[in-house]
Amino acid sequence: MTKILTIVGARPQFVKAAALSRELRKHPSIQELIVHTGQHFEKNMSDIFFEEMEIPKPHYNLEINSLSHGAMTGRMLEEIEKVILKEKPDWVLVYGDTNSTIAGALAAKKLHVKVAHVEAGLRSFNIQMPEEVNRILTDRISDVLFCPTQTAVKNLHNEGFKNIDADIVLSGDVMQDAALFYASKLHEKELQTSDFQDNFILCTLHRAENTDDKNRLSQIVEALNEIHHTIKPVVLPLHPRTKKKLDEHNLKLEVNTVNPLGYFDMINLIQKCDLVMTDSGGLQKEAFFFKKHCVTLRDQTEWVELLENGFNTLAGADKTLIIQSVSDMLNKISDFDKDLYGKGKATQRIAEYFL
Ligand code: UD1
Repeated sequence: MTKILTIVGARPQFVKAAALSRELRKHPSIQELIVHTGQHFEKNMSDIFFEEMEIPKPHYNLEINSLSHGAMTGRMLEEIEKVILKEKPDWVLVYGDTNSTIAGALAAKKLHVKVAHVEAGLRSFNIQMPEEVNRILTDRISDVLFCPTQTAVKNLHNEGFKNIDADIVLSGDVMQDAALFYASKLHEKELQTSDFQDNFILCTLHRAENTDDKNRLSQIVEALNEIHHTIKPVVLPLHPRTKKKLDEHNLKLEVNTVNPLGYFDMINLIQKCDLVMTDSGGLQKEAFFFKKHCVTLRDQTEWVELLENGFNTLAGADKTLIIQSVSDMLNKISDFDKDLYGKGKATQRIAEYFL
């Protein structure tokens, strides 16, 4: 029996865990226990994903949130250590690049428990981003690195990982597995967004680099308002961080904002929209999975293959460039039939590693 302790805490991790947990449960020789750090805690940021994606109820909920980076990561480290000592897992499995990721990996490593990192090797090469710090440190102490793309493998090789005693596995991206599986269930679901008509742009915005910097945030808000009034209506599910910062900076979004949505409603909107605008990592790929172009509101992206193939473009937080990029991308026609992320086989490859 292989005992895996999975650490999740933030919204994109629930999506990834939903897909991989489903696959792990097919194997009687694997036992998975889930720890929710509590980083995301509101019903529509957390519980809704567990319910509608049928993720097993977490065995532990640590309820740690709304603290500074140091306090949040420190408290998580302390509490995850207690769970590891009690459960004695063979592996601790972490996802992505959040504070919950680094806390889980570090707690495990100090107790000599092996660390598995799903979505390893990604780099934005912007060390100012908390996510970049979390990724680099988590990768360095992982025993197996499941890379979503060939570029991620190359990044690790460039950093000298050939000389480090860790397995590097090109698994593909578990988010594509999730997208394919849950899209096939969409027709069974009652949706909040079922009456949304076509002909809109879907936008999300939450990165610290955009929301915490008043100048960047106001440029983006001005661009979105202008696009909404003059090009096409914009629908924006509003992340709690962004809501707080808009109020703090006294900025007014004139687009159609809605509360954060569950996974099925998001898939529904991606399928219906004409274009995606986002600073999220996950949504850039989900746009591609559902054959939509994307304008990324960042200066770099970890998903460079989307740029190289012309599915995505970087517009940063520059009002003129954002508006121009939206016009260009709305008129673009692309062939989306490319295998960039493993075509939905990532969870199977990862589960097989633990057999
Ligand atoms: C975190 C991750 C980011 C990931 C994102 C997905 C880090 C450093 N960042 O960013 O990589 O892309 O999650 O959404 O781990 N809040 C609520 N209700 C909630 C959740 C958050 O009010 O349910 C508030 C928090 O109290 C905080 C703010 O939103 O004030 C930001 O939350 P936090 O978890 O620190 O970072 P995110 O911006 O969500």
